[in-house]
Amino acid sequence: MKTSSLLSLALSMGIVGLFSSAGQAGAKVDFVKEIKPILDQNCIKCHGPEKQKGKLRLDSKEAAFKKEGILVGGAVDKSDLFRRITLPKGHDDVMPSEGDLLTKAQIDLIKTWISEGADWPAGAIAAATPAPEAAKPKSGVEALGEYKPKPEELQAIEKLQASGINILPVAMNVNWRDANLSLLGTNVTDETLVQLKSLKSLVGLNLRNTRVTDKGLANLKGLENLISLNLAGTAVTDAGLSNLKDLSKLEYLNLYGTGVSDAGLSSLKGLKHLRALYVWQTKVTEAGAAELQKSLPGLKANRGIDLAALAKKEEKKEEKPADKKDEKKDEKKEEKKGDKKEEKK
Ligand code: HEC
Repeated sequence: MKTSSLLSLALSMGIVGLFSSAGQAGAKVDFVKEIKPILDQNCIKCHGPEKQKGKLRLDSKEAAFKKEGILVGGAVDKSDLFRRITLPKGHDDVMPSEGDLLTKAQIDLIKTWISEGADWPAGAIAAATPAPEAAKPKSGVEALGEYKPKPEELQAIEKLQASGINILPVAMNVNWRDANLSLLGTNVTDETLVQLKSLKSLVGLNLRNTRVTDKGLANLKGLENLISLNLAGTAVTDAGLSNLKDLSKLEYLNLYGTGVSDAGLSSLKGLKHLRALYVWQTKVTEAGAAELQKSLPGLKANRGIDLAALAKKEEKKEEKPADKKDEKKDEKKEEKKGDKKEEKK
């Protein structure tokens, strides 16, 4: 009797044990699918084959468990790795030591993984991967993705080309286009702009030294993909700028030698992607420029507003857009190179 009850007890425990471990296994954090990507993206560039900050590598099981107290399976409180990822930003020991902290969800996953034993399948190697594309601010045509113009748009483009308007794809096998009407100079009027009205494929529009006016700019309202707009040397004034306020992708705007003033700049406050604005030989003041930069920190971080008050400088700037000050800034950030190129066009 006693033996059999013991036996049944043992059996039932065994069965319970089996079930519970099976249940856990199903819900366990999967290192390869859930933890490795966090290490790949946030840790390996400093703790991998290239750099071993703090003499620590976190790319293989052997390396990660080599030093005691970094990862202790089943003991979150003894795992220094966990302590470090939960520290507040700015703390001396916080990891990652630079850039964004891990998210709450990522920290929770690591916590569960460690408390479940910190299983690291032999042979699973973490490797540095760049931050996902979405995290990097894309700009220019790259950010727009692909575009398939409707047949009507293609027909309109053909017609414009036939009439001598230079309107070309920005790159091979790309449907985004640049239109350069400055070549036709004074032959271009507000009437010409009517023909551009529905060309969503336009990312660049050069109207420099043409005869377009404020009224004509109303035709640009729907050119929602416009990234670069050159109105230099036109009769455009503050009233015209209000037509640009929904061109949310605009990064480059040249208003050199136009009639715009501080008042007009307020129309540009919503252009969050604006990175370069040229207002030499206009009525824009330093105070007005500073006011706009308050609304558009991105503008300040990039090429900013070029006021270049002195008329003499203008000629030089035309040929050699990057002055010394800009060059210094350019050294700091790679991005700027792109801007320079853009400006030379
Ligand atoms: C930008 C570089 C950088 C990144 C990214 C980074 N670390 Fe570090 N890590 C360091 C430096 C530098 C040290 C050494 C200084 C210190 O101990 O704080 C260090 C030390 C550590 C240590 C202590 C090592 C020891 O021997 O005691 C741990 C644990 C650690 N990092 C974990 C991580 C984890 C986990 C990640 C990703 C979530 C990460 N680190 C991302 C730079 C980095």
